[in-house]
This record gives sequence, C-alpha cells and structure tokens, in this order.
Amino acid sequence: MVGKVLLTGGAGYIGSHTFVALQDAGYDPVILDDFSNAKKSVLDRIKLICQRSEIECHQVDVRDSDAIFEILNQGGFVAAVHFAAKKAVGESVEKPLDYIDINCTGLLSLLKAMERAEVFNLVFSSSATVYGDQEIIPIPETATRSYASPYAFTKLMGEQILEQVGDADPRWSFGTLRYFNPAGAHASGMIGEDPADIPNNLMPYIAKVATGEFEHLSVFGDTYNTHDGTGVRDYIHVMDLADAHVKSLKTLQKNSISHAINIGTGTGYSVLDMLAAYGRAVGKTLPHKIAPRRDGDVDTLLGEVEKAEEVIGFKTRYDLDEICASSWHWINTGAFQAAKEDNS
Ligand code: UD1
Repeated sequence: MVGKVLLTGGAGYIGSHTFVALQDAGYDPVILDDFSNAKKSVLDRIKLICQRSEIECHQVDVRDSDAIFEILNQGGFVAAVHFAAKKAVGESVEKPLDYIDINCTGLLSLLKAMERAEVFNLVFSSSATVYGDQEIIPIPETATRSYASPYAFTKLMGEQILEQVGDADPRWSFGTLRYFNPAGAHASGMIGEDPADIPNNLMPYIAKVATGEFEHLSVFGDTYNTHDGTGVRDYIHVMDLADAHVKSLKTLQKNSISHAINIGTGTGYSVLDMLAAYGRAVGKTLPHKIAPRRDGDVDTLLGEVEKAEEVIGFKTRYDLDEICASSWHWINTGAFQAAKEDNS
C-alpha cells in the first residue's frame, strides 16, 4: 500500500468508483460519509469488488472538522479526495444556505483538519458548471468562470478557496477536477448510480425508461443549435473519471504543483444520441416525447481535454456504448435491487 487516502463522500456514486480505482493503484482508501445520499450496503459491494474483508469507514458529517482530524491523526494518510457535497442545481436554488453550508463550510472544515494533521494533498471534485454559459466551445481551462446557480457558486467558491490557500501556503497541492457528465458503472455491476428520488440527470432517467419504471423520456427542447436540435454534453465513463482522480493524486505527490483541469472525453452527444445508444444496450427503442426547454440549459457543453493529458497523463478508455452497457448491466444485477431495498 502506498498510503491512506481519505475519501469524503466515498460511499457515493463517484466516490465508490474512485475507491476501487485507488485500491487497484495500491492506495488504501478510507471512507468518510454521512450516508445522506448513499446506502450502507455499498460498503459490502465495494468489499466484494476489492476482495477485502474490511473497509475503514467513518459515518461523519464533513463539517465536523474535529472528527476528521481524529481520523487523519491516526497517521499514514498521504492525501484526501473531497467528494462530499450536494449537487442538484434545482434544489440549490430552493435551499441556497444548505448548499453554501455543506459545500463551502464542508471544504473549510476538511482543509482545517488536514492542516492540523499535516496532510497537504487534496483532489477536489469540481464541475464544468463553473464555466457558466460559454460562447467558445470546446471550453479551455482558461475560460472566465461564472455561476448561474447557488450550486455552481459553491463549486466556484471551492476552487477559489483552494487558489487562495495554495498561493498563501506552499505546503499545499491541489488537484481541481472539473467534471463533465459522469455516467456508466463499474464492470462488475456491483456499484453504480442510484438516485434516491426522481432523477434530475439524463442517464439515470433513461435507465428508468429502459426498465419501464417511466413511460418515456421527456426531451427538454429540440430547437437547440446542435446536429439534431437536442442538448449536447460530454458523457464520461465513471471508471475513467475515477482513474482521473488516481492520476491527479499521483501527479500531486510527484511534483507538488496544483492543477485545475477539465475531465471529459472531448466528444459530445445529444439527448437523442444518448437515448439511441442506451436503446442499443437494452436491445429496444426507448420512447421519448419532446418537452419544453429546462431553465438554465445550454446548447452544448464540451471542454478541451488536452491539458488533462499533458498535466496528469489522463486519457479516457471507454466509449459511449460501453458507458450504456455498463449502466444497463448495473441496473440488471441483484446488487442494484439489493441497493434499492436497503433503506439504511
Ligand atoms: C447538470 C447540471 C450541472 C451539474 C450536473 C451534475 C443543470 C442545468 N446542470 O448538468 O450543473 O454539474 O448536472 O451531474 O442542471 N435532459 C433531458 N431530459 C431529462 C434530463 C436531461 O432532455 O429528463 C437533457 C438536458 O436538457 C441536457 C442533457 O439532457 O441537455 C443532460 O442533462 P443532465 O444530465 O441534467 O446534465 P447537465 O444539464 O449537463
């Protein structure tokens, strides 16, 4: 083992997949999660994938800095990866204080605990949401950042906090990863995305159309300036995204130079492309209806991906069909059903 890594929000969708990738790379991941948006049974499923009898997991609110310090102070930690945050744009408009508190206070709490424990490498979950609405596509990392929702504000503020802290204190190294649209699941079908309520995001919604839980997909607008009129996004396989965290962390450990980079494939697909691809994985045509545009949506969201390759040596391995097939495999496994029935 090359050292312990604290994963805040490590029981969640991206956190659980990153656990597996870090373990595969020889690290010893430790989960911190309050289980507000994750199931306890994910721990058993991670154990099965990683062939481990035990996983270290602490049920802690990320705003509890003393509790985080106690964990880090056990020793052996080389870094933290900070996933724990709220992420629904619509909800953030209704509850801005909750978002600012959990996302920004949570980050500060973690940073203070890390400083006390003298752990100075952090990989931060940011989002392409910090680019707001851009004219120039694909978006370079140097684009002016802005925000169109309290959620986006918290991610931008998180990035800026890290910039200030990093500039003031050379002991810190930060890997800021601006995710595009994560999708898919681990090949085992043991872990994947499992939204508690009606999904806001496209892929989990399509999955529920495929299972028959929802009658059809509502396509939010077909008059965008794209090849078929529906919104274009960059969908990245969650195991590729997990690998980006490993590469970011290794780079920080090697050169101690902070980086802020886009993590995507560089290729865009429309809503109708995604529906057709998922239909190929399932083996049937999935029904849709055209609905009004969703407030705040843009035509196309695509980033430049060259910097990720140059700075951390990251390149994606999976294509769209693999994303859809892995998602469908997860939905059809007993693990997905068990996760649904786990109310803890
Ligand atoms: C959304 C958030 C983004 C956040 C990301 C996290 C908004 C405006 N943006 O990104 O800030 O970081 O999720 O995962 O909420 N679509 C449909 N029907 C549906 C659902 C989606 O047509 O039922 C379309 C959308 O209009 C969009 C595309 O599918 O064109 C992707 O939507 P979604 O998965 O919600 O992701 P983003 O909007 O890119």
